[in-house]
Amino acid sequence: MKYVRLGRTGLEVSVAGLGCGGHSRLGLATGHDEAHAANLVAAAIDLGINFIDTARAYGTEAAVAAAIRGRRDRVVLSSKASPGWGDELVSAAGLRESLEKSLRRLDTDYIDVFHLHGVTAAQYRYCINELLPELQRQQQAGRIRFLGITERFVSDTGHAMLAESLVEDYFDVVMVGHNLLNPSARARVFPLTQQHDVGTLIMFAVRRALTHADAAREVVSALIADGQVAADAVDARDPLRFLTQHPEVASLTEAAYRFCRHEPGADVILTGTGNIDHLRANVGAILAPPLPAAVLETLERIFGCVDSVSGN
Ligand SMILES: NC(=O)c1ccc[n+]([C@@H]2O[C@H](COP(=O)([O-])OP(=O)(O)OC[C@H]3O[C@@H](n4cnc5c(N)ncnc54)[C@H](OP(=O)(O)O)[C@@H]3O)[C@@H](O)[C@H]2O)c1
Repeated sequence: MKYVRLGRTGLEVSVAGLGCGGHSRLGLATGHDEAHAANLVAAAIDLGINFIDTARAYGTEAAVAAAIRGRRDRVVLSSKASPGWGDELVSAAGLRESLEKSLRRLDTDYIDVFHLHGVTAAQYRYCINELLPELQRQQQAGRIRFLGITERFVSDTGHAMLAESLVEDYFDVVMVGHNLLNPSARARVFPLTQQHDVGTLIMFAVRRALTHADAAREVVSALIADGQVAADAVDARDPLRFLTQHPEVASLTEAAYRFCRHEPGADVILTGTGNIDHLRANVGAILAPPLPAAVLETLERIFGCVDSVSGN
């Protein structure tokens, strides 16, 4: 494993981080039980992963707790509380309750990085005015070490919330969607995180579009129909063939993790899976060298201006 400094938190974290949410939720979403989920977390730690990201909403905090019992000090725990949906926003007291539940489920008395979860641009000002003071109180009380914020990438594919938040600079860590189909964080997020020494966690490195060839085809067809990708730039029947057929690329998914890992400004690449073989392969991909320069140039030429898809 390789380790990096997570921005101004100074935490030394593994470049591969275990994501306990997403479509798999450590396998809980695909029919596995909590023992399987806890084994997966334990396997990640054995592979050298020390950054574990969970959230109240994922239902995976108890599995994480089971896997880290007796070795809490070896891992950097990241969890989150949602500010609410639409107009139904949580109060400061509701946020504190959510944090308390996370602490109980994680069986710990502190969380290393605690985030506001999936914040939209419309919710952001409320979060700063009403919720941030409560988070700061909890930080002073020692229940939270560092503050984080995550974007709602499925709808905020152009990073409007983070672009605003990073200028104000209240959070030590941000979680940002980034992948080879939508590299817009390169211009809109990473220059600001680097300027303010904010740690970055990359989500949506592969999701569905970069693990299923038919999903990739659908996304690219929509981008062509939308005029965001030039029709003559790709073969619509197999748009990522230049990538998957390259002799130095093992698979679409491998290439997608390598793409994120070597992005200047990307600290931790989260990988979310319920499958131990996938976990091992993904850690290998995250530790592999950068993609060949010619492949990176082709990706930039085709997808360099895309900011409208998440790959969900
Ligand atoms: N707004 C937010 O705060 C937010 C939103 C989304 C995610 N997150 C965090 O970010 C983490 C990463 O996102 P994500 O979980 O969607 O991660 P991801 O790594 O981009 O995608 C995971 C998906 O890809 C599949 N997959 C992974 N490796 C594979 C492989 N080698 N071959 C084939 N399929 C593979 C997984 O299914 P299998 O189980 O079959 O491997 C899963 O469905 C989440 O777990 C969560 O912690 C945060």
